[in-house]
Order: sequence, then structure tokens, then C-alpha cells
Amino acid sequence: MKILVVGGAGYIGSHMVKQLVLSNHDVIALDNLSCGYEDAVKYGELVIGDLGNKETLDQLFNAHQFDAVMHFAAFIEVGESVLNPAKYYQNNVANTQVLLDAMIKHDVRNFIFSSTAAIFGEPEYTPIDEKHSKQPINPYGRTKLMVEQILEDYDNAYGLKSTCLRYFNAAGADPDGELGERHNPESHLVPLILQAASGRREDIKIFGQDYPTNDGTCVRDYVHINDLCEAHSLALTRMQATGQSARYNLGNGRGFSVKQVIDTSKQVTGIDFKVVTTERRAGDPAVLVADSALAKKELGWQPKFDQLETIIETAWQWETTFFK
Ligand code: UFG
Repeated sequence: MKILVVGGAGYIGSHMVKQLVLSNHDVIALDNLSCGYEDAVKYGELVIGDLGNKETLDQLFNAHQFDAVMHFAAFIEVGESVLNPAKYYQNNVANTQVLLDAMIKHDVRNFIFSSTAAIFGEPEYTPIDEKHSKQPINPYGRTKLMVEQILEDYDNAYGLKSTCLRYFNAAGADPDGELGERHNPESHLVPLILQAASGRREDIKIFGQDYPTNDGTCVRDYVHINDLCEAHSLALTRMQATGQSARYNLGNGRGFSVKQVIDTSKQVTGIDFKVVTTERRAGDPAVLVADSALAKKELGWQPKFDQLETIIETAWQWETTFFK
């Protein structure tokens, strides 16, 4: 298939491009490099441009007959989305609509969308399945839910088929060591811990230890980047076979506390780095764990890197080679 990967130079997008090319798909990555890196597109072709630019999209869609579009080009910082919601609504919603309209104009009707656990808001029960109510508590989560809603309407009106994949905590790196996580500034737990282990950061701060969990720190469901990418490929195959839109929650179904992730990282790296406990970070639910039974049943998704140790080992390999 010929696939357009929007945000293909970012963390998840670059892993997706590699996996698709190695599975013999013809891939074009579109990225404006606001958060992505040119050298992260090691496979396929990179077009530097913005998903909100109609002319760029017209040129791309005129030059290539795409079978599908995958969209990874959103801003992802919850805290920033509260302080600067305009940036989030502009890129994550308005620009995404420009992309969807270009798809319809050029008769490309298969879309895979990076959604998030943040669309659910404060969990009412755990693990979280697809039926859980969707009441996001920050602008970031709202932008993702809005796109899911737009997609429902676009399916009804224009026959645009979509699969929304709600990631829980994407983590880890390419096991070949070619790609990894490079956010700037970094805000995610696993890379921050490993920066403390490698000495690029003085310490790791635990944001609150008075949560109603076993050890008082927040519990999350960490899922390996390659397993997430695999789910996209399976979702595309299924969507083309059934001609139906779908939504899936993606996680391993097991939660680990911040302290457990730190302890496992100490074991994996063999380094005893400094840990400091600070105040809670605003907007963090105590526990976020996915029920991915539907993805397993309908997509045949079976995570291969589901051990926390493996997730951290691959991220550590990246931290110690790329940033050396
Ligand atoms: N944490 C720390 N110290 C840090 C960084 C994080 O204790 O230096 C804690 C957080 O408070 C949280 C956990 O580690 O409890 C995980 O935090 P991340 O920032 O790595 O991930 P989040 O769970 O906040 O965010 C993830 C995605 C978001 C998405 C969100 C859905 O990265 O894009 O899940 O709730 F919005």
C-alpha cells in the first residue's frame, strides 16, 4: 500500500514509518519538523511541510495515490495545553480538519488516528474499556476527542473510514537501536528517568506520593512503541477488509507505579540515581490502565514487548547510544 504518515519524523511516527517500509509499504512522511527530526526518517521519503497547508496537501495528494493516511502530528503536552489552548486547537483540531478535507477532496478514505487515554478524563473504573465515558479534563484531551467526533461525522457524511487508537503510555524505543524518544523539552517519565541514570539530568522527581495507590505514586500502563505501531498496521488491514470505522484502547492492561518504574530502571541500568519527591503535577489521575480486550479480539493484537524491563531496556539502549 501507499501510505502517508503525517508526523513521520516524530517519536511514534518515525517508528511507524520504519515498520511500514520494512513490511514493504510505500511510505511518505509529512512533517513540519516543529517537534520531529529530519534524521529520524531513516526509511521512506520525507516531505517537509505542514498538515494545515492546503497547497502542500494538494501537491502531495496530486502526486501520489495514497491508500491510507496515518496521523501522528499533534502537540501532546497536557500542561502546555492548559496554558496555551489556542496552539492545541489550531494544530490538533483545525489543521487536522484541513488534512481530512484534503483526503476527501482527493478521494482517500482510510484514516488512522493517534488518540489518547486523555479523552476519558478522570477514570470512573479501571481498567478503562472503549465504553468508558469520555470527559477529558484538559484541552489536550478535548482536542483529541473533538477529532474523534469529527471523524464520526465524516464517516456518516462522506464515507471516510477511520480507526482511532487511544494510547495509554507509549514508551520504549526501536529494539534495533536506530530510533527512540527525543522530545524537547522532555516530559515523559521513562526518558526522564533514564536521563537521570545517564547523568544528563541531576535527578528524577516523583510528582506526588499521596495518591490512593499501593505506594502512593501514580500508576500507568506502559506500552512499547513497536507494539503500538503493530496495532496501526493491523487496524489498517482490518479497516480495509471490513470497510468499517473502529476505536480501540491500547495498553498492556497492567499498571506500574512511578516508584516501580524507577526501581525497574535502576535494575535495568545498574545505576543508583537520585530520586526526589515533589508536589503532585496538576491533572494527573491516580491510575490509568487500559482494557485492550477489543483490540486483541478484533485486530488479533498481541503485544510482544509487554514486559516493563524490555520497554526500559530498549529505551536505555537509545539513551546510551544516541545521546552518548
Ligand atoms: N512523572 C513523574 N515525574 C516526572 C514525569 C512524570 O513523577 O518527571 C509521573 C507523572 O506524574 C505520571 C507518570 O509519571 O504519574 C507518567 O507521566 P508521563 O508524563 O510520562 O505520562 P502521562 O501519563 O502524564 O501522559 C500520557 C501521555 C499523554 C497523555 C496521557 C493521558 O504521554 O500524551 O498519558 O492521560 F495525554
